[in-house]
Amino acid sequence: MAASPNILVIHGPNLNLLGTREPDIYGHATLADIDGGLAEQAGQLGCAVESYQSNHEGELIDRIQAAMGSCEGILINPGGLTHSSVSLRDALSATGLPVLEVHLSNVFAREPFRHQSFVSGIALGVISGLGARGYSVGLEALVAHIRD
Ligand code: DQA
Repeated sequence: MAASPNILVIHGPNLNLLGTREPDIYGHATLADIDGGLAEQAGQLGCAVESYQSNHEGELIDRIQAAMGSCEGILINPGGLTHSSVSLRDALSATGLPVLEVHLSNVFAREPFRHQSFVSGIALGVISGLGARGYSVGLEALVAHIRD
């Protein structure tokens, strides 16, 4: 168990647009706001966070693979890939690391195609619908799980 765990934060496609993207659904916080909040929280929790966003599935998979041996947990909002990507799930699963899945919106209150997640089945837990606060709740829970 690492005293100061390294947490990889992954943001999937279109999350670079947060703040201006459908704010009625995703809120007004930008990705920089969310990452800044997580960095500050990491200082309080005694962990390290590294955030990565990409609109490209392969780049996300490469970054997840690179976490093996250097990170203790992954906090991820896979964006639309949640509902479509077996490969992303396989990469997360291959790391053997605890994965916490976060969604800003409540995907279960939205279109039926968002009710299925390829990630949830290999995740430690899922937070959906708490907006930007969900990342904070997720980071705290993930670090506590790693320390248990
Ligand atoms: C999302 C929900 C997904 O269905 C959507 O494709 C996203 C964002 C969320 O954070 O609520 O891009 O993951």
